[in-house]
Amino acid sequence: MSRLYSPVRVGAFTARSRTWVPAMVPWRSTEEGDATPEVIDWYGRFADGRPGVLVVEATGIRDVPSGPLLRIGHDRYVPGLRKLVEHVAERSQGQTRLLIQLIDFLRIRRRPEKASFVGRFLAVSDRHRLAAGLTESATEAEVRDALLALPHEDLLGALNPREREALEYGERERVFDMDQPHIRELPEVLPGLFADAAERAIAAGFDGVELHFAHAYTMASFLSARNVRDDGYGTTREGRVRLALEVLAAVRARVGQGATVGCRMLGDEVIEGGTRVEDAAWFAAQFAEHGMDFVSVSKGGKFEDAKQPRVGAAAYPYTGPSGHECMPTVRIDAPGPFGRNLPLSRAIRDAVRAVDPIVPVIGCGGIGTFDAAEAALVEGDCDMVAAARQSLADPDWWHKVRTGQGAEVRRCIFTNYCEGLDQKHKEVTCQLWDKAREREPSMEPEHAGRALSLDGKRSLLAPVWNR
Ligand SMILES: Cc1cc2nc3c(=O)[nH]c(=O)nc-3n(C[C@H](O)[C@H](O)[C@H](O)COP(=O)(O)O)c2cc1C
Repeated sequence: MSRLYSPVRVGAFTARSRTWVPAMVPWRSTEEGDATPEVIDWYGRFADGRPGVLVVEATGIRDVPSGPLLRIGHDRYVPGLRKLVEHVAERSQGQTRLLIQLIDFLRIRRRPEKASFVGRFLAVSDRHRLAAGLTESATEAEVRDALLALPHEDLLGALNPREREALEYGERERVFDMDQPHIRELPEVLPGLFADAAERAIAAGFDGVELHFAHAYTMASFLSARNVRDDGYGTTREGRVRLALEVLAAVRARVGQGATVGCRMLGDEVIEGGTRVEDAAWFAAQFAEHGMDFVSVSKGGKFEDAKQPRVGAAAYPYTGPSGHECMPTVRIDAPGPFGRNLPLSRAIRDAVRAVDPIVPVIGCGGIGTFDAAEAALVEGDCDMVAAARQSLADPDWWHKVRTGQGAEVRRCIFTNYCEGLDQKHKEVTCQLWDKAREREPSMEPEHAGRALSLDGKRSLLAPVWNR
């Protein structure tokens, strides 16, 4: 009888319920970006709980090395992804609709040693010569040596803000680095890359794609109020949304109306000078007007306010205030993590409905009970409810609740143990499973160090409900 378990149209398909498992990177791919058996089983385990929609993790649209993250930047990835699709269909008994999140990101380097940054990476200029107290005739090597000999504060004073950032945080590209040809050309390149990736996703059997327009990545940076590109793809709202609309048009032209095309976007960037909900609502209305099939709302998750990484590590966009809003923990300020981001999805939903009332808006953030999910739907905060960490804690929870086994749900305690592993690029698990494993290690010897077991039926950690 609930709204949560009522069907809803999402573009080309109807989801059986308004339950949604949003993208979560499990760090189980290979350096080649393949859908390994572990990746396939990970999604199979979520499919056991039969959410209405399951979204496969952020998957790179380029064919470039990007660590053990999934990729879809070449046709060779299609067979592996097809296996994943088939496995999810089997485990959910055809009841879960499957999307894949498509991502592009810019380069970020690890924080360097001071000696290697000043000694090798810094592009030495006359500005540095002057700051080091040398004349124009000084060689590059002499300048580097002189800079390295400076007290740290003086060295920082000799660097411009981007150089300082490169030294203290690791060099990070911006979408408005117009002196870099590969950045200048993003608007020419990205629509085609997204369209190619979407075509592969549909060839692999996915029901549709989720364009990643959120967090710290390329498309969100185009939408950002901090985007100062001067080529018509920045500064004004119209300029900032332009590439997103071009990507949407290219993807739609490629996959047609038979596939669902939606996006994940930020309701608020949280960072200083960033996009607020008024712009986000306007963007979402533009998306709806141009044929976006759903809008999934997130918040924050930016590099701009990330903590300084240690030398040799890369900055992680979920360590600062914006990151804490993205995955709010029990330690966050009032009103706490529960349903914290629903005011954003509500404002976005209002704007979307004014354009097209059938485009569902997905709400997310600290939702882990039936009552909270149902209330969000009934009160008009969103049309579907996404739960990431609660689904990780208990992949069966949607099904347990639906079948009156709510008391059996293993409840997420929102400590961000999972996010800590993500930060270290380690295989993501749940604190609750790991604790259980510590108590009874002999129960699962063959899966030691694994998160979700390959065969849920044997798993102590994520037991399967009784079919
Ligand atoms: C381990 C982990 C990995 C995540 N990876 C992604 C991702 O690939 N793409 C994305 O849009 N969000 C990602 N998220 C964010 C979640 O989708 C979700 O927005 C966030 O956890 C807040 O929802 P929750 O309170 O239900 O957990 C990730 C979250 C976690 C905990």
